[in-house]
Amino acid sequence: MNIELNKIAGAGLSTLLVVMALNMTAGIVFAPKKPTVPGYDLPSLEPAAAGGAGAPAAAADEPIAVRLAKADPAKGEKAVGACKACHTFEKGGANKVGPHLYDVYDRNKGSVAGFGYSAAMKGKASEAWTAENLDGFLKNPKAYLPGTTMAFAGLGKADQRADVVAYLNTLADAPKPLPKP
Ligand code: HEC
Repeated sequence: MNIELNKIAGAGLSTLLVVMALNMTAGIVFAPKKPTVPGYDLPSLEPAAAGGAGAPAAAADEPIAVRLAKADPAKGEKAVGACKACHTFEKGGANKVGPHLYDVYDRNKGSVAGFGYSAAMKGKASEAWTAENLDGFLKNPKAYLPGTTMAFAGLGKADQRADVVAYLNTLADAPKPLPKP
């Protein structure tokens, strides 16, 4: 009788051991990943890198001509407060850290006499500052023109850039026509 009981108890114990061993192994194999912050991870709102599939179409800026059609030069004039540490905007204004920006619209890149441009900018001297070029440069100077010495992070807001381009275009004796959508 005693021996029978021992057998049953032994069987029960070894079953328990097997279950425990399985449980531990499973714990190692399927290690639960605990989030550092409780809650669900939301999909990133950042647009996928360079035209990645599924990037929301809304992430792309509207063409500059479309934005210029609704741009406000007065708002652009306010926005260039951020540039005044380095640039003057009035006619006959001096060069500071950066060249004077009167008449910059449609001016050739890097063409203010006596200003020490970067080699990168001088290399583009055959191109003019069109609305598109200004828009691209002001969005992210260093990405648009690697090697530029303009130490400015850029204007991230597409509509604000259009305001600035529209304002820059007014700084001329005879403002040029802006591109139409
Ligand atoms: C920290 C100083 C600094 C700030 C701030 C700055 N710039 Fe510049 N900018 C420069 C320098 C330096 C250059 C010359 C870059 C080169 O030679 O590569 C330049 C060049 C330019 C040019 C090209 C001019 C030409 O003659 O080819 C434009 C246009 C321009 N800046 C516009 C702006 C606008 C608009 C802002 C404000 C939104 C701004 N910059 C803010 C320093 C600055």
